Amino acid sequence: LFDRFDLQPDDPLLALIGEVRADPRRHRLDLSVGVYRDEEGQTPVMEAVKAAEAQLVAGQASKAYLGPAGDVQFCARIADLVLGAHSGCQVAGLQSVGGTGALRLAARLLAVNPRPHGGGPATIWLATPTWGNHVPVFEEAGLRIRTFDHTDAMGTALDFAAWLEMAERAEPGDAILLQGCGHNPTGIDFTAQQWATLAMRMADKGLFPLVDLAYQGFGLGLEEDAAGVRTLVERVPEALIAVSCNKTFGLYRDRVGALLMTGTQAAPLAKAMAMAKALARGEYSMPPDHGAAVVRTVLESADLTALWTRELDAMRARLVQTRKAIAVHPLAGDLGLTGLANQKGMFCLLGAGHRVVQKLKDESAIYVAPDGRVNLAGLPLARVDDFIAGLASACRA
Ligand code: LMR
Repeated sequence: LFDRFDLQPDDPLLALIGEVRADPRRHRLDLSVGVYRDEEGQTPVMEAVKAAEAQLVAGQASKAYLGPAGDVQFCARIADLVLGAHSGCQVAGLQSVGGTGALRLAARLLAVNPRPHGGGPATIWLATPTWGNHVPVFEEAGLRIRTFDHTDAMGTALDFAAWLEMAERAEPGDAILLQGCGHNPTGIDFTAQQWATLAMRMADKGLFPLVDLAYQGFGLGLEEDAAGVRTLVERVPEALIAVSCNKTFGLYRDRVGALLMTGTQAAPLAKAMAMAKALARGEYSMPPDHGAAVVRTVLESADLTALWTRELDAMRARLVQTRKAIAVHPLAGDLGLTGLANQKGMFCLLGAGHRVVQKLKDESAIYVAPDGRVNLAGLPLARVDDFIAGLASACRA
């Protein structure tokens, strides 16, 4: 059996984790996978997380199973964080294995849902460029994928006309993937007005939103970054939100996330929740507890929440500073980087092609994702000049 498998290549992004580690050049700069690094190039465990972990070690009474929905108090706290404590919509949620696990469960829910008009697999519309794992996750779950442009030909501005055109072309019942904030990979988000317009079009047409929310707090702030999602779920009858805590709590390897389902009526939500639990049971039975318990412990304590918020604010402030430092650099214009200060979140996308990505690595030991995505959250301020110099040199013919 084993020998009959086609040999799969490593995931092109995750393969870089090992490649960077094996690179002996001391000045190497890892701007590939999306993790925050401080000025020393470290990804420390957040203080609030350390404190919550200490509390759990001291006080956790049992490690007995919690069931396929995982930690329901964690889910309730995440729902408050995303939707606000006074949201008018009803919500159900289950803990997931990171944001990817939430996307996977969402995709399975869409795939097993009988099509209202019959025929063919469920369809999801993706605005491209998008995160490199969206297509594999959705395809593997059995969805049909349709794509359209997220940005204009220059890649520097949102192509909102393409979004509206997609809403015309999509069939009622089709799912639409929207990134909640800090668009991966472009950093180009919707304005408040665009969220409202899209929400109305989707509600009118019966399109079903799936929101990927992985960077709440990395753009403008915890509340501000959730405003678009809140506008959306208030205007559409039902929505799915895949939430990741991996970046926001720095819990990357603990894989913490939640799938939220919003609606106006309790009975359909209960059915969706039951189906999600059944799918989770088939996929992995129950999610691992630790990371979600940490997040719950932080969010249940006013002191730890205040500490966590300060730490998140500090990460965002550094990220904003990095964006500004690049945007005002004398070479930013030539390199097409002046827009960075107006974009949001951890990432930006270089207009450069594969050759430049390769030269950055070979000549300057600067690693970016294979599609030219740069993890700005991994760039210490003290290395901004190195990054610009390396890029300028790689872009030279
Ligand atoms: C990233 O996009 O860099 C991270 O979310 C890691 C991943 O799972 O791809």
